[in-house]
Amino acid sequence: MKHRLRVQTGFAWIFAAVFLLCCAVTLSAPPALADVTSIFRPLSTPAQAVYEIALLALAVCAAIFLIVAGMLVYTIIRFRRRPGDEGREPPQVYGSNQIELAWTVIPIIIVIVLILATTRTIYDVQGAIPPADAVNATVVGHQWWWEIRYPKLGIVTANELHVPVSESSKRQPTFLRLESADVAHSFWVPQLAGKTDLIPNRENRMWIEPIQPGTYVGNCAEYCGLQHARMLLRVIAHAPADFEKWVAAQQSPPVEDAQARAGRDVFFATSCINCHAIKTTTANGKFGPDLTHLMSRQTLGAGVVTNTRENLRAWVRDPQHVKPGALMPNMQLTDGELDQIVAYLMTLK
Ligand code: CUA
Repeated sequence: MKHRLRVQTGFAWIFAAVFLLCCAVTLSAPPALADVTSIFRPLSTPAQAVYEIALLALAVCAAIFLIVAGMLVYTIIRFRRRPGDEGREPPQVYGSNQIELAWTVIPIIIVIVLILATTRTIYDVQGAIPPADAVNATVVGHQWWWEIRYPKLGIVTANELHVPVSESSKRQPTFLRLESADVAHSFWVPQLAGKTDLIPNRENRMWIEPIQPGTYVGNCAEYCGLQHARMLLRVIAHAPADFEKWVAAQQSPPVEDAQARAGRDVFFATSCINCHAIKTTTANGKFGPDLTHLMSRQTLGAGVVTNTRENLRAWVRDPQHVKPGALMPNMQLTDGELDQIVAYLMTLK
């Protein structure tokens, strides 16, 4: 008895420590980041559905935890060792049909309720039929960046998925086709939807429907190699008119700036064009991001640094220095060539 009591007390302390640790970790996240990556602040239809089912599961678990922990604490206090207990056994009780029935049937009912509620949510989210106005995009996971294509709009970009906001008067969700060029990745923007993997030789589907304009951030959620943690993802939700403007800008051909001629020549003379595409030119590489409108993007290297002239120069000079392991090689350009190429890339607005 004494031994069992000690084991129970030990467990209670471990429970309490783990619980407090989880609370501390949750509360210590920087508030701004905690908001924009929180599954508890859904701003999109599928994320809302996931949020509701998560609340149900958490409520059930919290109730079970409180009951079990409460009974444990009660037992520890009520039946603790008292003077005069030495050498005495407490009454031994074997078998109680009522108790055993209760702790078998109640969990079965809880599990059935959770299964039914989860099945309905999965059906609602995965069975959604795209409306006629839906935007379609294909997201291809690469080590370590996101290729984003809009087949119907003829747009190819990277790392930043632009979508219209869905309004109650005109719902406009975005349906995504998820593919991978190499290993398994996972698309996760917590405020917009649950995770969905991108698997080589397979096509997965998911959809998002942001209801507020703004930038939603996420990250690859499946370990995919050295730079998995820096495979960041931005979803930029525009008011419908702004989305139209973005589409028109992306559909336009790249700017031809006579002043950047020298850099353009260096770009086309080195092997940049084997990996990168620039619309309406002979550069049609598929291995790296499309650069037609490079400077319209906010970041470089899938969110590693902001997209400024200095960072772009540092990136082209030595990508490994900015993002160790990045598959873009150091082209060993001279300082002069580097300045020219950067000047040319800066015109690709
Ligand atoms: Cu891609 Cu982790």
